Amino acid sequence: MVSLSRGSASAFQKKNQTDRDVKDRNRRQKNGPAATGAARAGDRVRPAAKAAAKPDAKGGPKHPGAAARSPAKPRSVAADTVRTRPQKVAEQPSEPQRPVRVHAGEKPAERVPVILETAGTDDYRLIDSGAGEKLEQYGPYRIVRPEAQALWPRSLPAHVWDRADAVFTGDTDEDGMGRWRFPGAALGETWPMRLLDTDFYGRFTAFRHVGVFPEQLAHWSWMKARIEASGRPLKVLNLFGYTGVASLVAAGAGAEVTHVDASKKAIGWARENQALGRGEKLPIRWICEDAMKFILREERRGSRYDIILADPPKFGRGPNGEVWQLFEGLPLMLDICREILSPKDAALVLTAYSIRASFYSIHELVRETMRGRGGLVESGELVIREGGLDGSVPGRALSTSLFSRWTS
Ligand SMILES: C[S@@+](CC[C@H](N)C(=O)[O-])C[C@H]1O[C@@H](n2cnc3c(N)ncnc32)[C@H](O)[C@@H]1O
Repeated sequence: MVSLSRGSASAFQKKNQTDRDVKDRNRRQKNGPAATGAARAGDRVRPAAKAAAKPDAKGGPKHPGAAARSPAKPRSVAADTVRTRPQKVAEQPSEPQRPVRVHAGEKPAERVPVILETAGTDDYRLIDSGAGEKLEQYGPYRIVRPEAQALWPRSLPAHVWDRADAVFTGDTDEDGMGRWRFPGAALGETWPMRLLDTDFYGRFTAFRHVGVFPEQLAHWSWMKARIEASGRPLKVLNLFGYTGVASLVAAGAGAEVTHVDASKKAIGWARENQALGRGEKLPIRWICEDAMKFILREERRGSRYDIILADPPKFGRGPNGEVWQLFEGLPLMLDICREILSPKDAALVLTAYSIRASFYSIHELVRETMRGRGGLVESGELVIREGGLDGSVPGRALSTSLFSRWTS
């Protein structure tokens, strides 16, 4: 049993939520917080082309990286470091749901454990880790953040760590407040980055996240190769899509993408990422909606997808306060995904983080869910390998999340 923190594990207390629960639940989402009433269920966000032509009320991009493409002024992150207490939102059931079906037939073949490793690239690498922190390179910046999994000592000397451009400090309690500190010059909120031929903004968000989860590169490069090899425009559904990097990678490789996230803010960031890469014409539907509600509707409509990516948080909220709890919702979510996967040449990629579970939990669930559909289920962990200062010295592996991947 492991509890993997991708930056925000905290004790999850059931039912009877207290303010502390709400804070925990909202923490993942403010990096993309599920909107709390700002968006309506089923809202489609303006297509990016239109959005680019008509900046939103907030004035469009507010980051130094945008300067080359937009005259918008850098915005200090100082204001973001002071948080207001998250608002309580009345709990709402997600939608009239259906029971989870029990499937007959053989289980898919299996391959376990599979460790998918993200090594460094030009714009991202894990330089070092240890003593409860990690030192990473994100584009031009070296960033220090808490990392509960890094139980070992640091490899590199203190003066290397001390030269970081940004340090996230917070209570050792994962649930606690934190802030970004810039030991040298103050930095703007965002900066341009490029991974897998995709441009996007790194971003100092509240609660230690930086707008991208690099361990996902292992899934994204696998997906990109699959799309490119298919010879036709595959349909990709990106559930809990956050800042849209996976959606942009998929669309850039030739897929038609449907991106779903409950957070209007995260979708706004995703559209900024799309504009940064001049990808306005890429076929991406940006949908601000509760993921469960969306797939239930897609099932009723008979929609089909060739690849589904799902990276659900332990707890989340839809735009109308719909409650997502991984341990309660995952069996039905996967069962619906089964129904909306194409009958041939399909793939489902599930990631789970910040949960107390073994990869076997999701592995066996995916195998039961995909009974009778053949194929292979591979499950294990996503890890990032330390690379040293220039990425050339392989070091220790830092585990970030569990995954399970079914391919037909
Ligand atoms: C960790 S992020 C996913 C990261 C993404 N896979 C990536 O690597 O870029 C989790 C996302 O789930 C979204 N979310 C939370 N609850 C949701 C819900 N009920 N329906 C849809 N999205 C939700 C949050 O807004 C957040 O953007």
